[in-house]
Amino acid sequence: MSKHYFTYKTPDDLRRDAEGLGVDVPLVDDREEIKRWLAKPVDILGEDGKSWRIGNSLATHPMEGCDSEPDGRPGELTLRRYLRFGAGGAKLIWFEACAVVEAGRANPRQLWIHAGSAAALEKLLADCRRAHAREFGSRADLVSVLQLTHSGRYSYHGQHVAYAHPLLDAHPYTNLANSTPRNTPPHVASEEYLATLEDRFVEAARLAREVGFDGIDLKMTHGYLLSEILSARTRPGAYGGSLENRARLALNVFRKIRERVGKDLLLAVRLGVYDGVPYAVSLADQSGAPRPFPNPYLYGFGVNPENPLEMDLAEPLEFIGWLQQAGVKLLNVSMGNPYVNPHIGRPYEKPNEGLYEAPEHPLVGVARHFRVTAEIQRTYPDLAVVGTGYSWLQHLMIHAGAANLKLGRVTLVGVGRGALAYPEFARDALTRGELDPLRTCKTLSYCTYLMRQKKHPLGQFPTGCPPFDKVGYGQVMKEARHAAREQKAASRTP
Ligand SMILES: Cc1cc2nc3c(=O)[nH]c(=O)nc-3n(C[C@H](O)[C@H](O)[C@H](O)COP(=O)(O)O)c2cc1C
Repeated sequence: MSKHYFTYKTPDDLRRDAEGLGVDVPLVDDREEIKRWLAKPVDILGEDGKSWRIGNSLATHPMEGCDSEPDGRPGELTLRRYLRFGAGGAKLIWFEACAVVEAGRANPRQLWIHAGSAAALEKLLADCRRAHAREFGSRADLVSVLQLTHSGRYSYHGQHVAYAHPLLDAHPYTNLANSTPRNTPPHVASEEYLATLEDRFVEAARLAREVGFDGIDLKMTHGYLLSEILSARTRPGAYGGSLENRARLALNVFRKIRERVGKDLLLAVRLGVYDGVPYAVSLADQSGAPRPFPNPYLYGFGVNPENPLEMDLAEPLEFIGWLQQAGVKLLNVSMGNPYVNPHIGRPYEKPNEGLYEAPEHPLVGVARHFRVTAEIQRTYPDLAVVGTGYSWLQHLMIHAGAANLKLGRVTLVGVGRGALAYPEFARDALTRGELDPLRTCKTLSYCTYLMRQKKHPLGQFPTGCPPFDKVGYGQVMKEARHAAREQKAASRTP
């Protein structure tokens, strides 16, 4: 039985817990002040007179629905999600992970950009913008970014890892502490493969520009290939070892985009600034604990090798400086790996089934997100920084968002799971200065549950918010549960 952490009605209730836990979670109380901070437009200056105006300080994070067509084109549920996000009121819409090559898809229903899917992506974007314009009169200050990815270790076709990882090779997913390790080492992506991949990312960026996206994001987070490269200290050759080598792929991609695609595409990165270590779950009490790790620990980005449970932002901060010099104007800060330490990236009330209970008070995880983002923003005041980790705060997320904006600790407040549950969160925040507590995400991990269910005729269940979007996902959830029960029964049959 999960512990009930979020018990707050008012900002003061939360303040008391934050004080008790010794963490800093600033909150604005006054509704008018909340509205004012969240409504503040964000101007991003590009080169050669190019600029982008994001009409308010709210963003929807990239949120995969695992609902594309087998050939990578958006499906019906994909369109539904972006119509809802478009009509929701956040002025920065960060489109979900989209693979640049088929072999880099995380599942057979992940978006995949190529010549055959470009027209459908163009329609998706146009429909999203129209939905926005219908509600808000214009789409001139709505900015759209497409996240480009290669899923690396988590590609469904077969793993392409950046280097041999002593823990993740044996246990790429959180499972029982005493589970049998995998003993076939995964395929380490060759130098030639990575060099070719640079060009695939550039080609995807070219297509994204043709489709009409304002910008592209290189997904360097959550344990996927470009995030794993950042910790490839033990990899020999051009893409491993020194930070310069580990940064090579991203910096080459941005240089080539500017040379070949143009300087008028908004360049963005979603960066995992702290990988943490893999966790395992104890069968006895469902608690989570770090798997035993070697010391020094050379296998995580943003971690202190002498004590990887501790963060060390020296490399991430240096890398962000290089990204900025390479033309990156927008940075979305994330952390952790959802497959092996989900509490770090997305603090939750209740874990996905079979996973571990939160090993820390979720408010500690939220405060970690805020602290790190503030440090990045302080170091790079003219970088547009999007913050993460707000959904666990439920209706109080806008109080925290307004406070972080007021204190200059972030440029845009990003909402992930909260936007699936309550796509019009931004409109309510901006017009009323408050959210409906009966509609906010309760971080019960049903979206993650669906994402992990593969026993579907297309090899993947779509995901969304079953508790708050019954029309979209009530039936999907029933079918996923049924399929999981059948699978369990089949595995018991001798
Ligand atoms: C169902 C689901 C899909 C996600 N898809 C993506 C994605 O495509 N790209 C990405 O960078 N993060 C993805 N994330 C992570 C979220 O963008 C976000 O970082 C995380 O949920 C924490 O923010 P929140 O507390 O507002 O939910 C996903 C998370 C979930 C639960």
